Amino acid sequence: MAQADLGRPLAGQVAWITGGARGIGAAAGAALAEAGATVWLSDVLDCDGAVATIRAQGGEAHGRQLDIRDRDGCRRLAEDILTAHGRLDALVANAGVCPAGRVAGDWAQWSRVIDINLHGTQNTIAAVWEPMCANRRGRIVIVSSMAWYRGGVIVGTEYTASKAALIGITRHLARNGGPHGVLCNAVAPGFIDTAMTADFPQGDLEEIPLRRRGTPEDVAGPIRFLCGPDSAYMTGCVLNVTGGIVLAA
Ligand SMILES: NC(=O)c1ccc[n+]([C@@H]2O[C@H](COP(=O)([O-])OP(=O)(O)OC[C@H]3O[C@@H](n4cnc5c(N)ncnc54)[C@H](O)[C@@H]3O)[C@@H](O)[C@H]2O)c1
Repeated sequence: MAQADLGRPLAGQVAWITGGARGIGAAAGAALAEAGATVWLSDVLDCDGAVATIRAQGGEAHGRQLDIRDRDGCRRLAEDILTAHGRLDALVANAGVCPAGRVAGDWAQWSRVIDINLHGTQNTIAAVWEPMCANRRGRIVIVSSMAWYRGGVIVGTEYTASKAALIGITRHLARNGGPHGVLCNAVAPGFIDTAMTADFPQGDLEEIPLRRRGTPEDVAGPIRFLCGPDSAYMTGCVLNVTGGIVLAA
């Protein structure tokens, strides 16, 4: 391999990152662009800032304002990416919401969270699945949460349910996509400092073996790994990115 390729293992590839305007999604977009990929950031928010940051660092980025609950919009974006580049190598299904709550939350909140985190994520997967299988190549990285495994405390039941369902989807896609060259893995972050968690209680750092909350970049690295050549024999895996809170395989 040429020396230049070592630092840019995703050169020539194209990735779609949902929830890319800020937080983990923006960091994942920057990490994939740094690795050489052309990235498409989508978000219900304007992605201009995140796109400009990547371009300022020499990366290639595009943005689209899109609510992942819009199934046709998701399909159109996948089609537009394929038309523009002739390929779509990776989907990072990251967009999500996490309102605070407890066990007996209200039904409106339950529906909204499930609609975005579960149905919306499925809209994005459905948009890329057939082209990836037809091309016999694709990586899908789903952003779950440690809540799926240990249960949530600050978050509502619907958040935990949505993130557990995403692990089921990850394994389902791994089993069904493997024969077609489509790999699917998940990351399950712990306490990450983003806008999503800004209003949450800060919690006890003694609970975290690494004694700090994570940064979006701490999660972006494992996402890049799961999109890249070094994870070519991994599918159906869940990478815990929790500073050691979750020690299970
Ligand atoms: N921050 C944490 O501690 C933490 C922990 C575990 C998992 N996660 C997960 O990581 C992912 C990213 O979260 P974050 O921490 O970067 O928070 P964030 O709020 O900064 O980012 C989430 C992004 O998703 C976008 N989004 C929300 N609803 C959308 C919709 N309907 N359509 C399109 N985009 C939408 C938001 O606008 C936002 O830009 C989420 O799925 C979240 O559940 C975060």
